[in-house]
Order: sequence, then C-alpha cells, then structure tokens
Amino acid sequence: MSKLRIAVQKSGRLNEDSMKILKDIGISIDNGKDQLKASARNFPVEVFYLRNGDIPQYLKDGVVDVAIIGENVLIEKGKDIRIAEKLGFSTCRVCIAVPKSMGYNGIKDLEGKRIATSYPNTVQDYLDKNGVKSNLHIINGSVEIAPNIGLADAICDIVSSGSTLFKNNLKEVETILKSEAVLAVSPVLTEEKEAILSKIQFRIKSVLKGRQ
Ligand code: PRP
Ligand code: MG
Repeated sequence: MSKLRIAVQKSGRLNEDSMKILKDIGISIDNGKDQLKASARNFPVEVFYLRNGDIPQYLKDGVVDVAIIGENVLIEKGKDIRIAEKLGFSTCRVCIAVPKSMGYNGIKDLEGKRIATSYPNTVQDYLDKNGVKSNLHIINGSVEIAPNIGLADAICDIVSSGSTLFKNNLKEVETILKSEAVLAVSPVLTEEKEAILSKIQFRIKSVLKGRQ
C-alpha cells in the first residue's frame, strides 16, 4: 500500500505547529530530529522535513503529495497549487518595513529604493499595482539586517509578533497580505492517496473545530 508523503517545514515555528497538528489527529511520528524523512507508526503516512521555499516545486512535481505550508509561500511560488484546508495557525503577514528614522509618507517613497526580500514575486506584484519601481535584492534569511548593513533601504518579510522588526529598528509601513498555515495538495495525486488524504482532512476538520 502506498503512503501519503507529507512535507513540513524542516525547522522553525511552522514546524512545531505542523508536528502538533499531526499529533493531534493521531498520527505519531518517529521523530529523529536530524532525519529528513520519518514514517508514521499507525497510519500510511511519511513526513518529509524540507525547506519552506522548496516545497511548492516538490508539490508541482509530485515528489511530495501534500504539505503543511504558509499560504504566503504558495502566493510567492505556487499560485496554481490547490489549498485543501486552511489550518488557522502560524498566522503572519507579509510587510514592507523601513528604518524607524526614515520619514515615510506612502508607497511612492519607495521609488528607486533598494528592497531586500525573500518574496520577490509578492513585492513586485505589489509595487506594480501601485506603479512604483524599486530595485529588489533577493536574500534568503535574516532579511531584517539588510538596512543596518547598508544592503537595502527597505525590506519585505513576514511579520508575526513584530519583535524582529523592533530589534532591528524597523517600522512596518505596508501590509501586503495576511497568511496562515494551509494544507496544500499536489496536482498529481493517485486515487489511493486521495483516499488517505480525505481521512486526514476529516480528522483535521474535527481537531480545528475543537480548537475554536
Ligand atoms: C521569520 C521571518 C521574520 C520573523 C518574524 O524569521 O523571516 O524575520 O520570523 O517573526 P516576528 O515578527 O515574530 O519576529 P526566522 O526567525 O524564521 O528566520 P529566517 O528569516 O532567518 O529564516
Ligand atoms: Mg527572518
């Protein structure tokens, strides 16, 4: 019998919340922290620990069948991927922030400025809609440090508690979108796997209901 391959974030806050919901729906994982793959003991499921940004492509290619992932990552890299369920946890927003000391009167102030981000498509769409041309600088982590080291004038990243912005003397000036964890599904799923997925989805729905 084939197993449903579920991708979750390798490390970080979404990882903890993802493992928690799997546990809550009764899927127990033999979790060696350094393993990239683990099997469930009591359900036809395998969990793959992957980098967030890689997950949309793995879904498209059918390398994994489903994923617990931030909606913001799908908006950036996987617009055509189906969302089976919104999960209500790991909420955040994708924002543009600038140094506290910078005067800011609106999005036009970003014209010609350098923006550091891990979400180039999302920012570019937003700038295009507002008729603003900026220079994007793509970096993959610790984005908030960029203005302090002279790499950029502004940043665009996810904000949750706001503490990373605060620590780096940045202020949020534009909120591009709001996001939460979702259950995303590969476009290429066998009927056998669809059946496992619907069992999981049923359990998720009842757990989420209980959390309300
Ligand atoms: C994430 C994100 C922000 C921060 C937001 O970074 O990129 O920097 O969390 O959370 P906060 O508003 O609660 O501070 P993470 O710690 O995952 O590290 P990374 O950016 O280096 O991947
Ligand atoms: Mg960060």
